[in-house]
Amino acid sequence: MIYSFILGVFMSEKGLTLQYRRRRKPMNQLLDYEKEHLEAMRPNLAECTVLLRRDGSFPISSPCPIAAFGNGVRRTIKGGKGSGEVNSRFYVNIEEGLEEAGFKVITKNWLDAFDNARLEAKKRFIAEARKEAHRHHQIAAVYCMGMTMAEPEHDIPLETDNNQITDTAVFILSRDSGEGNDRKPIKGDVLLSDAERRDILKLNDIYSRFMLVLNTGGPVDLSGLESVKNILVLSQLGVETGSALADILLGKQDPSGKLATTWTAWEDYSAVGNFGDNNDTDYKEGIYVGYRYLDSIGKKALYPFGFGLSFTDFKIDPQPAELSKSLVKVSATVSNIGKYSGKEVIQVYVSCPQGKLDKTYQDLAGFAKTSLLDAGASETVGIQFDLRDIASYDEEKASYVLEKGSYVIRVGNSSVHTIPVAVIQLDEDAVVTKVRNCCGKPGFQDWRPEKALMHEVPDFISKLSLSAKDIETVTVDYERTYPIDEEVAKLTDEQLALANVGGNGNNLVAGAVGFSTPLLKEQGFRTIVMADGPAGLRLTPLFFRDSKGLHSCNGTSSHSENFTEFLPGIVKWYMKMKLNKKAPKNAKVESQWCTAIPIGTAIAQSWNTDFARFCGDLVGDEMERFGIHLWLAPALNIHRSILCGRNFEYFSEDPLISGKMAGAITLGVQKHPGCGTTIKHFATNNQETNRYGNSSNVSERALREIYVKGFGSAVRESQPKAVMSSYNLLNGKHTAESRDLIENILRCEFGFEGIVMTDWWIADFFTHNKTDIHPMIQPKLTAAAGSDIFMPGREKDRDSMIEGLKDGSVSREQMQINATRVYRMAKELCKN
Ligand code: BGC
Repeated sequence: MIYSFILGVFMSEKGLTLQYRRRRKPMNQLLDYEKEHLEAMRPNLAECTVLLRRDGSFPISSPCPIAAFGNGVRRTIKGGKGSGEVNSRFYVNIEEGLEEAGFKVITKNWLDAFDNARLEAKKRFIAEARKEAHRHHQIAAVYCMGMTMAEPEHDIPLETDNNQITDTAVFILSRDSGEGNDRKPIKGDVLLSDAERRDILKLNDIYSRFMLVLNTGGPVDLSGLESVKNILVLSQLGVETGSALADILLGKQDPSGKLATTWTAWEDYSAVGNFGDNNDTDYKEGIYVGYRYLDSIGKKALYPFGFGLSFTDFKIDPQPAELSKSLVKVSATVSNIGKYSGKEVIQVYVSCPQGKLDKTYQDLAGFAKTSLLDAGASETVGIQFDLRDIASYDEEKASYVLEKGSYVIRVGNSSVHTIPVAVIQLDEDAVVTKVRNCCGKPGFQDWRPEKALMHEVPDFISKLSLSAKDIETVTVDYERTYPIDEEVAKLTDEQLALANVGGNGNNLVAGAVGFSTPLLKEQGFRTIVMADGPAGLRLTPLFFRDSKGLHSCNGTSSHSENFTEFLPGIVKWYMKMKLNKKAPKNAKVESQWCTAIPIGTAIAQSWNTDFARFCGDLVGDEMERFGIHLWLAPALNIHRSILCGRNFEYFSEDPLISGKMAGAITLGVQKHPGCGTTIKHFATNNQETNRYGNSSNVSERALREIYVKGFGSAVRESQPKAVMSSYNLLNGKHTAESRDLIENILRCEFGFEGIVMTDWWIADFFTHNKTDIHPMIQPKLTAAAGSDIFMPGREKDRDSMIEGLKDGSVSREQMQINATRVYRMAKELCKN
């Protein structure tokens, strides 16, 4: 009984995922749009990959016998687990990608032996995980969701088949993670297993051409591998992950990505705040997140933020910066001085003066990517940014301020390779924006380094003067009025409650995870259909209809490993039967094949907003085809800790790059009529451990400078149609119940015009544990906060709304305002 409930809950949303990889289908068997999407995507993929080390032995001129080892050769990860999984028709793993490109993989016996060892380890892991769930009195499917096994130790000898000889070897190291659980700083996860370390070092010694390839969604600790000649962060690139590696090895594409999150030894990352506590996560590190922390304490990362090599080399000649009021213009001429064609990323960092407020050593302020430069070619790129956008937040003044002093502007191709190009001298403190303090108190003072590191600036650097008088102060008006639509004014209380909750399930578009109410058709409400992302559009690929609705069928979809692998066999069987039917003979089987695109982190690593926009355009095209109005993506939470199990969906540790990527993707999607994005999860959803009941305790300053900043810039740049709030609480209050966040920050400060929805199933028995100290969310309080749709919305959620009207916790007017926003958005997005 309990299981069928859980199944009902999850199957309709996360259960329709291809469990096993299918090999590539010949291009002539694909539909035209699929072909077009794959062909357009493939040449861009190397932009998302980051070359960390190189010795010049790659690329190679032609395919050759190759010794391919590692857990990712066959079990290549195309994207992580959970709602971010995409049911593509097939995906190309590394083995297939290499073979398609003409390489001969000569390690089949090793790969078979590894498969067997891993399978055995997996059985033990699942049994152990289920026992652990029972020990914690939790349902295994929920407790273990997104849990990944640490890669097993083994002693399989590093031999080629029949001792064939080659000089070329690769080791593909994969890591998976997923919604529901966090990663662990243990061997086989963040740390390399002993077997991996041993094999990588040995291969590096014995093969003259060796590359370590990281098919991971986030960092692993690469310390001790400084001797490895070539290291590539391939990341997880969707359908063509394996083909992309072959293209890079053969020099058909240049790996031109840069890290959007620092990769360093596990113990180098900040341990100032905590992570993984059941109830409270204290963001004590304040604004010192990622490179902001390491740079400010003078610690060198193994592979710093913004870093990435290329097969070719570039020379960067920055020009003196120009200043017009607070607008800074920087340009640099980039010359390709190497042997291959490639692209370079120019990055601008600013070091702000220490004042009443402490400042990080530097912040990314802008970036631009060159076009593809042939060997010998050059290009001048320009980057413009407003100093106002890097203002600090002063809680005492409830204002964003630029403090007087010297702002050092540096240009380069990573956070550690920069050249100062100007010092801007601001004569007085300037208040940029006056707001209200909104997020409550975290219960601690933010950490700051004992001594601020000074940035030395050579005398010859040009000094530019800026007068505080030239910086206009904007005061946010929080008194907004919202007209109520005529149709909405006529709704009864019961109908208003319906409008304020959504629906879950499959019966409008197969695999779509939710919709706005379909029960107010007569009152003129159209129904908005929503589907997941962000690594593509998540739908059921093959389905048929009957009088009971839509059914996934013909074995095209099965159940996400994310939680089904932890269920007892009988339950799995039941699910397969019920949710993956064989289509009856006379049924018309319909298809919705979607393209799995690179994960969010990989898109950010391209540092190319045109590429991000292209990804959005591709998804928008598929949304239009299949009748999806809102894509539940992109996701732009911050990589606060590398342990967060959903980091692969998110972009970066830096809010500027996150906001720019989300904005560009939104512009791509919203180019398509009737299609919108839902940027999520607003805000501070940076950990999966007890994600429904955990409070992120954050200072107002860190919230504004790091965690909501990207949302602000995405809204200003692209006006996404929707925002999804997060599961977690913020300083003890559920984000979906926070009027401060939703009304004051999102709508009044950022100017958001769309609808706000909650995250899924947040008010159910399995989302609240006995050990939770924070209260469970109440739908009526989300409505009062100006959250428009409670998702996915069940009868009891509606009842809570009606109760709220009765007990005065939400006004009829507020529910009418919310309903008006839903009514209008539905009218805008849906044809009927
Ligand atoms: C996730 C969201 C997702 C939703 C619908 C939730 O569990 O946190 O990101 O969009 O489910 O699948």
